Amino acid sequence: MGSLVSGWDSRVSDPNSVRRCKSLTREEIDTFWKTKKKSEEEEHVQAVSKLVTQEGAQSQAQEEKRVEDLFENQSKRSGWWRKTNWAFLNEPREEEGRQNNYVPQFKVAHIAKIADSEMTSKILVIGATGLIGKVIVEGSAKSGHATFALVREASLSDPVKAQLVESFKDLGVTIIYGSLNDKESLVKAIKQVDVVISAVGRPQILDQTSIIDAIKESGNVKRFLPSEFGNDVDRTVAIEPTLSEFIGKAQIRRAIEAAKIPYTYVVSGCFAGLFVPCLGQCHLLLRSPPRDKVSIYDNGNGKAIVNTEEDIVAYTLKAVDDPRTLNKILYIHPPKNIVSQNDMVRLWEEKIGKTLDKTYVSEEELLKTIQETGPPMDFLVGLIHTVLVKSDFTSFTIDPSFGVEASELYPEVKYTSVDEFLNRFV
Ligand SMILES: NC(=O)c1ccc[n+]([C@@H]2O[C@H](COP(=O)([O-])OP(=O)(O)OC[C@H]3O[C@@H](n4cnc5c(N)ncnc54)[C@H](OP(=O)(O)O)[C@@H]3O)[C@@H](O)[C@H]2O)c1
Repeated sequence: MGSLVSGWDSRVSDPNSVRRCKSLTREEIDTFWKTKKKSEEEEHVQAVSKLVTQEGAQSQAQEEKRVEDLFENQSKRSGWWRKTNWAFLNEPREEEGRQNNYVPQFKVAHIAKIADSEMTSKILVIGATGLIGKVIVEGSAKSGHATFALVREASLSDPVKAQLVESFKDLGVTIIYGSLNDKESLVKAIKQVDVVISAVGRPQILDQTSIIDAIKESGNVKRFLPSEFGNDVDRTVAIEPTLSEFIGKAQIRRAIEAAKIPYTYVVSGCFAGLFVPCLGQCHLLLRSPPRDKVSIYDNGNGKAIVNTEEDIVAYTLKAVDDPRTLNKILYIHPPKNIVSQNDMVRLWEEKIGKTLDKTYVSEEELLKTIQETGPPMDFLVGLIHTVLVKSDFTSFTIDPSFGVEASELYPEVKYTSVDEFLNRFV
């Protein structure tokens, strides 16, 4: 952050009062942008401006003029300096070191958060009361984003959800009552924000076309993150019934791209809260790892990706304002969390000082169980096959043309490893 003077413990509403040190002039910044042809930032602005005007540029010359005007307007709004998502252009690079070594005595971090909140995107979460949705709402509000939660009014008859919504309000979240089936409510909510994150559940995946329509109508959204938070549905080896859900998510991807809506798809791996306590036997829905026996699928060496819900949200929120994740898949593949079932079982055995009885389940037996088990369990057993037997998460290489890896982009996020996560249950 810039040079914050200790004692500024008050809300800073005027950006001029939090100016950065003037190491670059406006002209130098203009020169920078002119030389930085076809940068990702320009592509970002072009994508957004295309969406707003709903018409492509007629010629290269017109397009360049439009980009220049956009930057001109942006700098008029923000003052003589402007923030990119990578750095303040008029600030010394981080490696040049600090200019001072004072120890802040007041709540400087708090001020920084407030100042930042005026520059970060406003976020709407749809599916806000769900398993991952509620973590997104909380994380978004706590990280300083102006946060809006779309909530179905009827759901408040459930006391747990009503209490959750009250806790959102305590965090300063704006509650908007609405539904996927009520387009007017969607448009009204979307018009107030820059970023829309959908965390609707599996049954509502295809209903997200109503969000796409509302985003098109609103015309102001800089980024849409559809409900994904799982596998890369375009590069999967899944079989039915898991495959059908993945196909639904892929259809939503294609609809977003056809509508030219700026997007990020979050491929998060398995939620640790669901996958680790059952040591990969996710259909058992265990709350704590078994201490006596475990079924090992195939040879147990298939590599999965497992992340805590909090870390998934932390990486997701980093990505919403980042041009490097624009129109890309964000893969959350931190190295310590690429684990096989054998790895998880071994870590657990070491922690409890006991060897578990192991039953080996062949791929053939697993496929038979999928066929014999009814919904919704067949989906979960199908996931075991996709993730642990077929190594769906790790069966391809991330190519920069379509994806970026979160722990590489954001090394500052101190993620929880599977090893550390297991300590919670010892
Ligand atoms: N990687 C993993 O291990 C993993 C695990 C679980 C889920 N996921 C993925 O994460 C995503 C979210 O799943 P989840 O399990 O968190 O969802 P969930 O708990 O089932 O929550 C669904 C949310 O959608 C809302 N909703 C349902 N119908 C709606 C409608 N018509 N209009 C507006 N909102 C509606 C629900 O609101 P109400 O409270 O009003 O019902 C709820 O907030 C999915 O894509 C899923 O596949 C991944």
